Amino acid sequence: MAENTQDVYEDNDYYFKMYNYFTSKSTEDSPNQWIKEWDTIVDLIPNVEMSDSIYMLAVATGEGSLERQVIEMIFKHRPRVTLHVDVIEPAIDQINQFKVKSDEMKAKYPKLTFGWFPLTWDGVRGKQEINNKKYHLIVCVNGLYYMDDWAETINQFYNILASRGVMFITINSSESGCGNLFKNYASWEGRTTHLLTADNIIAHLRSTNVPYKRYIRKTTVDISEVFNGNSEGGNMLLDFLVQRKDFRKTAPEKLKKKVFGFIENNSKVVQGKTLITDDEIDLVVIK
Ligand SMILES: C[S@@+](CC[C@H](N)C(=O)[O-])C[C@H]1O[C@@H](n2cnc3c(N)ncnc32)[C@H](O)[C@@H]1O
Repeated sequence: MAENTQDVYEDNDYYFKMYNYFTSKSTEDSPNQWIKEWDTIVDLIPNVEMSDSIYMLAVATGEGSLERQVIEMIFKHRPRVTLHVDVIEPAIDQINQFKVKSDEMKAKYPKLTFGWFPLTWDGVRGKQEINNKKYHLIVCVNGLYYMDDWAETINQFYNILASRGVMFITINSSESGCGNLFKNYASWEGRTTHLLTADNIIAHLRSTNVPYKRYIRKTTVDISEVFNGNSEGGNMLLDFLVQRKDFRKTAPEKLKKKVFGFIENNSKVVQGKTLITDDEIDLVVIK
């Protein structure tokens, strides 16, 4: 077991620098998939009378770029609705960025309000402001990897979902290059920390008899720099791929060999760039 590897989320500043770098190298294979998918999903949110509100819970939002698009879609489909969004995000700088951007949205949509919770899900879930509500929409995009108990978190989301409410979870596909590396790496290192994939979530939903719809967004990441030990970008990409900080410096040689061997066998070179698939699975549950 590689006891000296450090979980990547422990250093928050580094985490977001690395995450932003990784996403800057990612491309959805067919553009606007997210918007196209939400064009359908938004109509699943239960119909409320014109005078009523839609309550949305957005967990692990970062600075909220995807969540803001969801809000735009809700107003596109239901222009007269009142929408309240509770935002849960523990990284202060990220939630502050979301707040700044939300001001523009509030000016555009006077019936939009926010509740801000700069906390982890565990830090917030016992609070009355959350527990006393029933949410019509709960969105957690790529956040469950970092939850202390992701299965219990899903159960808690389900409990505070309104009848016919929609729960939306995004997670790595277990079959794509990156998700497959997560699965293998967890077994090589003997620890699963931050290495969740869609298979885990689906098994849990099945075991609790919760039906779901599954969407896939095919995504490719340019990881060419990963093989250059002197490249800061390459080291950040590598760290994100295994969710361990300073992997190249701290991991045992045997483990590194396995990781690089896997990357070589599961990537392809196109026009001089090394590409790996990083498909995302969106799971939609209706209560
Ligand atoms: C991969 S980012 C996803 C951000 C955003 N949803 C997106 O897709 O761009 C993971 C997010 O989970 C947040 N996070 C980490 N641990 C958390 C926890 N215990 N509860 C809630 N959010 C958490 C991080 O701060 C980070 O913003």
